[in-house]
Amino acid sequence: MKGIRPLVAGNWKMNGLGASLGELSSLLERLNRDPVATDIMVCPPATLLSLAREVLMGSAVALGAQDCHPLPSGAHTGDLSAEMLADAGAEAIIVGHSERRADHGETDALVNAKAAAAHRAGLTAIICIGETEAERRGGATLDVVGRQLAGSVPPSAAAANIVIAYEPVWAIGTGLTPSADDVGQVHGFIRAGLKQRLGEAEGSDVRILYGGSVKPANASEFLSVAEVNGALVGGASLKASDFYGILSTYAETNA
Ligand code: PGA
Repeated sequence: MKGIRPLVAGNWKMNGLGASLGELSSLLERLNRDPVATDIMVCPPATLLSLAREVLMGSAVALGAQDCHPLPSGAHTGDLSAEMLADAGAEAIIVGHSERRADHGETDALVNAKAAAAHRAGLTAIICIGETEAERRGGATLDVVGRQLAGSVPPSAAAANIVIAYEPVWAIGTGLTPSADDVGQVHGFIRAGLKQRLGEAEGSDVRILYGGSVKPANASEFLSVAEVNGALVGGASLKASDFYGILSTYAETNA
């Protein structure tokens, strides 16, 4: 049906200690028994990247990181560069998450620089965009998403090195979700924007994920929408059973 292989990525945010790696082992066991027809990625906190790399070695689950500094190295206490995250085993970096935009005042220009940094290090940039509740209520969703898309995607972008995650801010961690129709409208709009920006062929191949309160119970509703090429999952990615519940949507619907 869809030409693009989907991606389901788990964003652990500021959650996870060494003991949480057991969830990754459980996930791999489950995937060994019941494989799924989607690409899979887990993005733990940076403290766990090296350990997670050991657990995931040789498996179907890719490793991603959360956020990076735009520069490759330097006097920036507490920050991590894309090169460091690559060195620790990351294949991708989530940039522009709404929590970073809100907690740290990250602008589209900074997100753009961070995505370019991911590319400089040879990594995929998972670029997050999405409107707030007030913006949606004010009818500004497509304006906001269009502006963030235009501002956050760097000149180095290509279908193979970016993923766009559409995450309505009001749906993140709240249990609230947009309707499938609303998601379809925004994803169609993002697809059109990507084609305009990158050209028809490249723009058609970029994966556009939906994120915001995706759970096993609602995953199939979102993952079956046109132009939804997978999901970025927060809370439900922390437990192997929940995350597998979402991944299994692809086994059930695409088998
Ligand atoms: P959530 O988070 O699934 O917990 O809503 C999604 C995200 O922020 O990526």
